[in-house]
Amino acid sequence: MCGIVGYIGEKDAYPIILKGLKRLEYRGYDSAGVAIYNGNEIEVCKTQGKVSTLEEKAAREISRVGTFGIGHTRWATHGEPNDINSHPHVSNNGELVIIHNGIIENYGSLKTELKKRGYTFYSDTDTEVLVNLIEDVQKNEGVKLGKAVQIALNQVVGAYAIAVIDKKKPNEIVVAKLGSPLAIGIGENEYFIASDASPFIEYTNKSIYLEDGEMGIIRLGREVRLRKIIDDKPIVPYVQELQLNLEQIEKGGFDHFMIKEIYEQPEVIIDTYRGRLLAKEGIVRLGGLEDHIEKFLNAQRIIIVACGTSWHAGLVAEYIFEELSRIPVEVEYASEFRYRNPIITEKDVVIAISQSGETADTLAAIKLAKSKGALVFGVCNVVGSSISRESHAGSYTHAGPEIGVASTKAFTTQITVLTMIGLRLAQAKGTISKSEFMRCLSELEMIPEKVEIALKTEDKIKEIAAVFMNAKNFLYLGRGYNFPVALEGALKLKEISYIHAEGYPAAEMKHGPIALIDEQMPVVVIAVESEHYDKVVSNIQEIKARKGKIIAVVSEGDTTVGEMADYVMEVPKTPEVLTPLVTTIPLQLLAYHIAVMLGRNVDQPRNLAKSVTVE
Ligand code: F6R
Repeated sequence: MCGIVGYIGEKDAYPIILKGLKRLEYRGYDSAGVAIYNGNEIEVCKTQGKVSTLEEKAAREISRVGTFGIGHTRWATHGEPNDINSHPHVSNNGELVIIHNGIIENYGSLKTELKKRGYTFYSDTDTEVLVNLIEDVQKNEGVKLGKAVQIALNQVVGAYAIAVIDKKKPNEIVVAKLGSPLAIGIGENEYFIASDASPFIEYTNKSIYLEDGEMGIIRLGREVRLRKIIDDKPIVPYVQELQLNLEQIEKGGFDHFMIKEIYEQPEVIIDTYRGRLLAKEGIVRLGGLEDHIEKFLNAQRIIIVACGTSWHAGLVAEYIFEELSRIPVEVEYASEFRYRNPIITEKDVVIAISQSGETADTLAAIKLAKSKGALVFGVCNVVGSSISRESHAGSYTHAGPEIGVASTKAFTTQITVLTMIGLRLAQAKGTISKSEFMRCLSELEMIPEKVEIALKTEDKIKEIAAVFMNAKNFLYLGRGYNFPVALEGALKLKEISYIHAEGYPAAEMKHGPIALIDEQMPVVVIAVESEHYDKVVSNIQEIKARKGKIIAVVSEGDTTVGEMADYVMEVPKTPEVLTPLVTTIPLQLLAYHIAVMLGRNVDQPRNLAKSVTVE
């Protein structure tokens, strides 16, 4: 995720763009930049850091005068956050300037081709490739900017919301969208463009939201023209009157960032496997892994270090890796690992999982592992973060910024990456049959749709939340792949609602926790179709016999548990290895709604911080 803004009209563009970028910082904040036409040339200023850093730099370096310009706040995907990789990017002839939110998957092959034609690249970004491709089309075909953008985009595979300006046409912005959002604000003799309406809501409430596969030519003094990118078919713009206020827009119309992020999961899971998982072709490839695959295959064990929710993702990975690739796995709390003089050798591979990439204990754990000669592989969300830099190699999750303190989309995207690693290792080791491998790839590709279906049960979950919101304790039970999900469900509930909750392996209940069960005790049991389904059914019976209240997560159409449980939350049927990606969803929603009903500060629960940079 990145934020993009543009302005063309009669007012000073820079203050409008700068304020807009500050509002879009929730979409990314590792670097920022602007390009303003000063009546003569386009002045570009960009920097690593937040929009406030850009503001200081721009005050020193550019005139900031002009009524036409674009700006960007970045969440790095290709190339670490630094000044050069920041947007806007300028084409080799210095005439075209672009801002981009998304990922150009085939940028590697396009770049090779453009290099052969004499283009030079200064950054590591996919975006710089696109702007030079547009320049190349303009040059070779002799077409105007809009047409050149269209021809170039038809060669591109990936996702984008872009805005391109041309020094020779200082009254026009060309925009296009596929997969990433883009809104056009229509004012009095002025136009705005932005990733959402927050940068322009104080100037106009009239907006056009581009649909996927559409592009627009925005020229001062005439109406916006929209076309289909693929076949140039004209589209009649639909102008909406916005009813939302600023805060609602930043949260995408949701009440809290947490629920917005819960709903983003189908999209960010796709972002995470995009370009890495090609189910039909039977390919799963993660750049960082391929370079070190031999080390993984020959590892005597994989040690996973992480904290909190990321540690739960690590536990899921333990089940996946051992089952699929038969490599021994140990999962450690980073804080314990670093202080207990662990035995680590060069034959070990250490995987560090972290959303922020800044968690102090995880960082210290990987430094320790490195000092003992192990290969360290990071699974982080924040590009260029300390853990990603400290690791020898790694794979990013592409969850975008997670603002809600309680981790949701980071967890499911971590599991997505870890599942891909498990499948790739199994394929390379030959521990999975071809047919099972192919089935897992296509099932993984279908997970976003299934998450979408699971999200549709929100109303039912709200009713369950209303029944149990005043409970003092909760128990969460699961087996196998869903034991870590039970831990995660309990953590979600306790951290945002302040209700005491414990997660347990279902069979372990009778070794102690069963003493807690009475008619006051809600027990959330993950009882989806699995190898151990019958065992879970027995555990449910044990709880029923002690009058506990059962809230069961079941596979669609389940009647056995359905008849025994007091309440059920259905999720689509999924191969067992992938179930955590769907069973997590109702547990996130349950925790969220209980916390909301209790009037808790859901996005910033007491005593917690998003990134734990102290021990
Ligand atoms: C829980 C939560 C925390 C984090 C933990 C690790 O919702 O967010 O438990 O998972 O602090 O943080 P990262 O993943 O940034 O290392």
